[in-house]
Amino acid sequence: MILIKGGTIIDPQNNLRDQKDILIDKGKIVKIEENLQPPPECQVIDATDKVICPAFTDIHVHFRDPGQTYKEDIYTGSLAAVAGGYTTVVCMPNTFPAIDEPSIVRYVIEKGEEIGLCRVLPAAAVTKGREGKQLTEMSLLKDAGAVYFTDDGAPVWDAHVMRKAMEFAGSIGSFVADHCEDLSLSKDGVAHEGEIAAALGLPPLPPEAEDTMIARDCVLSIHTGMPVHICHLSTKVGVEIVTWAKAMGAKVTAEVTPHHLYLTDEEWLDFDCKAKVSPPLREHEDLEAVRWALASGIIDIVATDHAPHAHQEKMQEHHACPPGMIGLQFALPIVLELVRKDYFDLTRLVEVMSINPARKIGLKPPSIKEGEIAELTIFDPTESWEVNEEVIYSKSKNTPLMGRKLIGKVKYTFYKGEIVYRD
Ligand code: DOR
Ligand code: ZN
Repeated sequence: MILIKGGTIIDPQNNLRDQKDILIDKGKIVKIEENLQPPPECQVIDATDKVICPAFTDIHVHFRDPGQTYKEDIYTGSLAAVAGGYTTVVCMPNTFPAIDEPSIVRYVIEKGEEIGLCRVLPAAAVTKGREGKQLTEMSLLKDAGAVYFTDDGAPVWDAHVMRKAMEFAGSIGSFVADHCEDLSLSKDGVAHEGEIAAALGLPPLPPEAEDTMIARDCVLSIHTGMPVHICHLSTKVGVEIVTWAKAMGAKVTAEVTPHHLYLTDEEWLDFDCKAKVSPPLREHEDLEAVRWALASGIIDIVATDHAPHAHQEKMQEHHACPPGMIGLQFALPIVLELVRKDYFDLTRLVEVMSINPARKIGLKPPSIKEGEIAELTIFDPTESWEVNEEVIYSKSKNTPLMGRKLIGKVKYTFYKGEIVYRD
């Protein structure tokens, strides 16, 4: 038996925003009440001044298996996930080979289950080999366990292919998520087109590259009546387009990454390619726009786009350096920063990190309620900690946050009734 004592439970599904104790027996929540006394031989977790909420779901991570497990693998990725308070993650299919066959879908799921730290679910490719041409066998991939379809890392550039993909995925109760980037506009751009790229002489990547493709996808969704999900939305114009599409009744959803909520292109000022990510870090106006969009419900989900790359790869000059940064362990403190700055409250944090992402992939979100299996995260909203190599569980350490202080720390993660992470 485990008694979690003195914490504040936040679970909007059960109208909880109260200080109550939680008694867990054989993995199940058996009692939620004020001032519970521990039964004999019960482990007590002191959660005074801590927050307890349904564990998080990240619908956008890169665990690099198969093919690039020197960057990350499903074990190290799972460790990073539970240390970040996540118990469900969706792995992107830009692996080698791409996740475009049912056998590879099953491989990822089985490996995740074998490790057993959290739920590891794959998204499958929209097109074979992620080449943008021929659709994958979506029904078979869905039956094998793929939770949605994306060619992430690359857009579905052909509008006809995208329309067919949206129609097909929608007709089997799934959806396409798009990495919105018009490659004819982004070209060999490296940093957001603006004053900083100009000052540093970095090849500029205009926001139109993202905005035009968001607009295309929204229009396709309106006409087909099918859902589309916008990956890592990062621009103020993109926010306006999604606002418009939602007002038109389109089944459009959008996610934002912690790095696009927290960092700007100023990260380039020390010429460090750790700042290179796709889409690129934007300007303050974009930062404000995505923050308010997350607060208002225009953006539905926080997803990390956790993208590990090896040290020697990120040390290359800006053209050769692959885009991406790790994120699983930083999402909570970054979103908490927005709570502290009054963009929204803890209830909204739980919605965008736990409830909405789980629902988006068709899962019942974890629920803090008597009779439910414990799947929850306990965090200290005020603990300050420094990002350094020792605290990062990922195989790769690529983050511009290295050496910085963050506030808010995961203390425990429960999955299937058991403690899978303890700080
Ligand atoms: O920065 C990124 N890295 N954006 C993507 O879309 C792909 C990802 C990766 O796979 O490294
Ligand atoms: Zn992407």
